[in-house]
Amino acid sequence: MATTGNKNINAKLVLLGDVGAGKSSLVLRFVKGQFVDFQESTIGAAFFSQTLAVNDVTVKFEIWDTAGQERYHSLAPMYYRGAAAAVIVYDITNMASFTRAKKWIQELHAQGNSNMVMALAGNKADLLDERKVTTEATQMYAHDNGLLFKETSAKTAINVNDMFYEIAKRLPQVQPAQNPQGMVLTGRPAERTMNASCCS
Ligand code: GTP
Ligand code: MG
Repeated sequence: MATTGNKNINAKLVLLGDVGAGKSSLVLRFVKGQFVDFQESTIGAAFFSQTLAVNDVTVKFEIWDTAGQERYHSLAPMYYRGAAAAVIVYDITNMASFTRAKKWIQELHAQGNSNMVMALAGNKADLLDERKVTTEATQMYAHDNGLLFKETSAKTAINVNDMFYEIAKRLPQVQPAQNPQGMVLTGRPAERTMNASCCS
């Protein structure tokens, strides 16, 4: 890792998406490297943080994991207002969750910060036999809407760190270097080092 010209930035990131799409599970995977089969439905919202080093910039993500239940919808602007990044999560085995994700994206385009980095996560990518939402359709939608798109699995960890790393790289304050050298996760509980390509 380059050590010269180090700078630290804080980036507020919000997760939005349908009930049960796997928002909390993605955060738990990214922040603690864990997965649980029976994750409890989020009430209101939960806060986490995780630090990533991208080249010589240290990005501290301040993560708001929101509740997907409809009765909490009106709270969402509190969490996405002023956010540098948003991850909109759907479940690849559930078409209704993809429809819900597209509604969130419309809402963010209308009400969110105009230079917000937006990522669409097609989660539960380990459940290929139950897939209802095709990769191709989503790829086209993501491209047309200027979104980063990854199919992730909080269960197997596929593409999870990679997605946060790609988001960090797109933050306006992070200048991409010519030869990206990978990322370092510096979050608790254990100090971990990994390459951008190690887990996808
Ligand atoms: P709300 O908080 O209610 O909005 O839901 P959420 O989006 O936070 O979903 P949550 O992380 O609670 O996950 C819902 C269920 O899906 C849990 O039982 C998880 O174990 C399961 N789950 C989450 N991610 C994955 C995944 O990648 N693969 C599989 N197979 N199951 C997953
Ligand atoms: Mg949750």
